[in-house]
Amino acid sequence: MNIKIFKNSDEASQAVFELYKNKKEEGATVFGLATGSTPEKLYQLMSDSDLDFSESTSINLDEYVGLGSEHPQSYAYFMNQHLFRHKPFKESHLPNGLAKDLDQETRRYDEVIANNPIDLQLLGLGSNGHIGFNEPGSSFDSQTQHVQLTESTISDNQRFFSSEEEVPKEAISMGIASILSAKEIVIMAFGLNKAKAVKEMIQGPMTEAIPASALQQHRKVHVFLDEKAASLLD
Ligand code: F6R
Repeated sequence: MNIKIFKNSDEASQAVFELYKNKKEEGATVFGLATGSTPEKLYQLMSDSDLDFSESTSINLDEYVGLGSEHPQSYAYFMNQHLFRHKPFKESHLPNGLAKDLDQETRRYDEVIANNPIDLQLLGLGSNGHIGFNEPGSSFDSQTQHVQLTESTISDNQRFFSSEEEVPKEAISMGIASILSAKEIVIMAFGLNKAKAVKEMIQGPMTEAIPASALQQHRKVHVFLDEKAASLLD
């Protein structure tokens, strides 16, 4: 893992933005994208830049079950607000949270990933070590899956909803094997509440109890941290 530590999240996001610029210049066309608060600054930098994604493809990690793209807390809505309405892609893929047959939807999404091998996958890190919505205990062999969110993720995500009852309890997520199939991976983590998960991801044993520790087996992972998230590293 290639680990970079910055004074704050703004400086880290600027560095990730530079990496995206370089990768695009080198010919990357398929970008795996994430939602959540961590990539917001990166998406703002992309939106304000002269980067052109009109010939690129995006594939998002996950979507809540039960929320359609018009719902303000859906990840489809988030992506439109933060990136796609400013920088349209040629094709943008997200799991369909309203799919009637969720198993069929996971298979459809695996085909999307198989047909569009991801050049650069962006990840945030859950405070419990999740990547995508692959919660602790997820198999490292998992493809796209229908998942139940853990109590810790539901409570972390409550800040985006008016009450905990409103937070969806299920999601469709790219699996850990799907994530590891990307040619290159960027994971960002900011703030003290990520420090323990960061340490376990990088310096702990590789274990399904910490989904992000699976990244230790990938050849090309860039980790971008602020000082707080890096504070427990040896
Ligand atoms: C989002 C996702 C999640 C988040 C993680 C961190 O698409 O897959 O794994 O990256 O929960 O969320 P934030 O950035 O809100 O701390």
